[in-house]
Amino acid sequence: MLNRQLCLLLFTSFLGVALCDNFQSTLGHIKPKVSVYDQENAVKQLIKRIIPDRYQDFIVEVNNEIGNGNDAFNIQKVNDKIKITASTGVAVATGFNYYLKYFCNSQVAWQVTRIEIPEILPQVNLTITLNDRFRYYQNVCTTGYSFVWWSWEQWEKHIDWMALNAFNLVLAFNGQEAIWDRVYSKLNLTQEDIDEHFSGPAFLPWLRMGNMRGWGGPLSNAWHVRSLMLQKQILGRMRSLGIIPVLSAFAGHLPRAFKSLYPDTNMTKMEVWNDFNDTYCCPYFLDPTEDLFNKIGTIFLIEQINEFGTDHVYNCDSFNEVDPSTKDLTYLQNVGKSIYKAMTDVDPKSIWLMQGWLFVHSFFYWTNERAKALLTSIPLGKMIVLDLQSEQFPQYDRLHQYYGQPYIWCMLHNFGGTLGIFGSTDIINERPIQARNAPNSTMIGIGLTPEGINQNYVVYDFMIENAWRDKPRDKKEWVEGYIRRRYGQSNKTLVKSWSILMETIYNYKLLFKIRGHYAISITPKLNFETWAWYKSTDLHEAWKGFIESADDFKDSQGFLHDLVDITRQSLQVYGDYYYEKLKKDFKNKDLHSFNESSSKFLELFPDLQDILASNKDFLLGNWIRDAKVCANNSHNLQDEKLYEYNARNQITLWGPGGEILDYANKQWAGVIDEYFERRWVMFIEYAMKVLRDNDHLNKDYIKTKIFKEVEEAFTFDTREVPTKPKGNTIEIAKQIHEKWSDLKNVEVYSKRSGKSLEENFVGTQSFYEPSVILKK
Ligand SMILES: *[C@@H]1O[C@H](CO)[C@@H](O)[C@H](O)[C@H]1NC(C)=O
Ligand SMILES: *[C@@H]1O[C@H](CO)[C@@H](O)[C@H](O)[C@H]1NC(C)=O
Ligand SMILES: *[C@@H]1O[C@H](CO)[C@@H](O)[C@H](O)[C@H]1NC(C)=O
Ligand SMILES: *[C@@H]1O[C@H](CO)[C@@H](O)[C@H](O)[C@H]1NC(C)=O
Ligand SMILES: *[C@@H]1O[C@H](CO)[C@@H](O)[C@H](O)[C@H]1NC(C)=O
Ligand SMILES: *[C@@H]1O[C@H](CO)[C@@H](O)[C@H](O)[C@H]1NC(C)=O
Ligand SMILES: *[C@@H]1O[C@H](CO)[C@@H](O)[C@H](O)[C@H]1NC(C)=O
Ligand SMILES: *[C@@H]1O[C@H](CO)[C@@H](O)[C@H](O)[C@H]1NC(C)=O
Repeated sequence: MLNRQLCLLLFTSFLGVALCDNFQSTLGHIKPKVSVYDQENAVKQLIKRIIPDRYQDFIVEVNNEIGNGNDAFNIQKVNDKIKITASTGVAVATGFNYYLKYFCNSQVAWQVTRIEIPEILPQVNLTITLNDRFRYYQNVCTTGYSFVWWSWEQWEKHIDWMALNAFNLVLAFNGQEAIWDRVYSKLNLTQEDIDEHFSGPAFLPWLRMGNMRGWGGPLSNAWHVRSLMLQKQILGRMRSLGIIPVLSAFAGHLPRAFKSLYPDTNMTKMEVWNDFNDTYCCPYFLDPTEDLFNKIGTIFLIEQINEFGTDHVYNCDSFNEVDPSTKDLTYLQNVGKSIYKAMTDVDPKSIWLMQGWLFVHSFFYWTNERAKALLTSIPLGKMIVLDLQSEQFPQYDRLHQYYGQPYIWCMLHNFGGTLGIFGSTDIINERPIQARNAPNSTMIGIGLTPEGINQNYVVYDFMIENAWRDKPRDKKEWVEGYIRRRYGQSNKTLVKSWSILMETIYNYKLLFKIRGHYAISITPKLNFETWAWYKSTDLHEAWKGFIESADDFKDSQGFLHDLVDITRQSLQVYGDYYYEKLKKDFKNKDLHSFNESSSKFLELFPDLQDILASNKDFLLGNWIRDAKVCANNSHNLQDEKLYEYNARNQITLWGPGGEILDYANKQWAGVIDEYFERRWVMFIEYAMKVLRDNDHLNKDYIKTKIFKEVEEAFTFDTREVPTKPKGNTIEIAKQIHEKWSDLKNVEVYSKRSGKSLEENFVGTQSFYEPSVILKK
């Protein structure tokens, strides 16, 4: 926080005004627009949805006066009821969740809900003021990896979760293409022009960023109708609770047809992104300084506001994973000005929300002076920068607190919605607090920006509390509370297991990128290097505690979910172990050993399949069912097929030819047996033959065979996939634990990049060392 003296010193400059009033003068209008009464009503309904039998025990009041400008809530027990008074609907929900979590040991999470309100409501009398102006949620990719097939019922639950966890600034990206469809038609594009541009539902985020086009498309009218309706429901609900929805603005990416419609306008073909070929890559990028940019940008915004209304915050990322064509500073300033002008010409109160990912991804292009040119091209406080992956590659220091523009400290954590236990708890425990308290801090919020959700909930729960925590927590004490909330009771054995996890696997501090690739989940090859930042023996020690406690927790949904996940993780680690063995055996041309290690490796897959199949949260069937249900409103068989294909392709090939192969892979029952296992069986049979015949391994031959017969075949498959779990999780987990117990004392990971595990643990590299940034 700024000290008073500094404020006085700075007060004369524009920068000073924006900083000293905590950006109130520029962001003051970004607040709930619905009445206090409507917010109260909305949050009452929320409480009723969460606790239908006890909602009458809660009295709520929204009162803007409380909190002195920041959101705040007060919870008191009054006449046997709990009264929550708070600054907005979201703040009431936050207070309600606070009471559920810390007074009733309950948890409302993504996949797990456990609520237990004592007959006599626990005493309470407290007021909490939230630390920052904003709690931001979503990555532009989350729509693709997690929400794409959701119905209103799923959204409704999730919006409740957002409000319970204090989020008040959230992307609302459905229905965008329906608006663009109208704009393109107005600008004389034909249906054909539009169809070759729109990608399928599962790939819309990357169409929107101009990374590619057309893949998995086109979009039917039924899709537009559905997503418009959904968007209106979502916006209505968010606004009624006091959440500020963020809409999109024109970033410059255009269908190919524009080039011939406007031959005299300066537009450049985008660079190829991730090997997508010319049929699917490279839309045009319209230079923001061109007149046409303003014309299209304003038409789009008007059309969008007519349909959805606005809360004045617009996301716009022109250079996401694509660099500007010149390094000229004046040009960069003009680009910024033009983008902002296309917003303010329509909505003078516009705030530009920019994902700061470009500064990480294109580190070398975005030198300090270029970043400064773009960032300061519009008035300070009119832009909000999302420091997108603050837990690993923070940019707020390197870019001098974004040269006076306010920013939000975001935990990204997950790429592609892959599974794998992982998290950086020390970092998220300490650094948001340090960043907020740094001299001249322009931090105005915390955020969650995962590409995919439904994994590692503990890390998100831990991070979210930064909304109001002002000191780092004792992790052991915290996790004991987490266990009680999630499982209903605590247990010494489990506290020990969880404490181990929090200090090891959930305490990642290195700069290697974690992207969900493990021996079991990669496409078969013999040059993959396994690694980890934790000791496998620690993981197995923790796993043992889960197994020993299992019978006592057999009725806990949360425990069973976590038991599946830690069993999955252990098998994943054993996969890495046998993979390294078979790799060595193949290199040594030792047929006998190879046969042994590879059959052990293959034995893991049925076990993985069984444990995952036993829990509803780990089933391919639900992902596919949700996709198909999306086509149901139109009874459109063609859409149904296309959506299933989109769903299957995104989590495997990611493109027609494996362009981003396995980036968003899922360790789910149905994927394990039909995809991961089948391709390894095929590869190992071939490798055995190669060894037996003393032949050489033809990489292209086997790659093509696997592509055709397993990978691509999986994406075309339309057979029914189970949507109901089967088998008893505890029995299966115990069998697996027993079966693989030989490995419990084996240290699986010993090195990374030639360094010992301990050396890697030290993590002395600088965030901004080029070699670190580039490391894949
Ligand atoms: C709640 O606490 C405040 C001060 O912290 C006190 O003034 C007030 O009387 C308390 N209310 C009840 C109902 O105990
Ligand atoms: C679209 O086409 C019509 C008819 O050819 C023409 O009058 C109009 O100017 C065109 N609009 C745009 C935006 O190019
Ligand atoms: C088109 O824009 C680029 C920058 O994106 C600029 O370098 C080039 O000179 C422009 N060309 C024309 C013909 O204006
Ligand atoms: C791009 O790949 C697709 C699918 O493999 C293929 O149908 C298409 O012809 C390719 N396009 C070009 C221009 O090579
Ligand atoms: C804070 O801002 C003031 C005024 O711009 C500057 O003199 C000072 O060096 C800054 N402090 C830090 C730690 O950046
Ligand atoms: C905790 O687990 C141990 C086994 O490790 C068991 O003996 C004990 O009864 C459990 N306690 C509770 C409260 O469940
Ligand atoms: C591989 O091992 C199995 C037993 O695990 C054996 O039946 C088979 O003959 C072996 N194959 C070769 C080629 O050694
Ligand atoms: C499709 O919709 C109909 C009527 O709304 C419903 O009965 C049916 O169960 C739905 N089918 C699926 C697969 O959801």
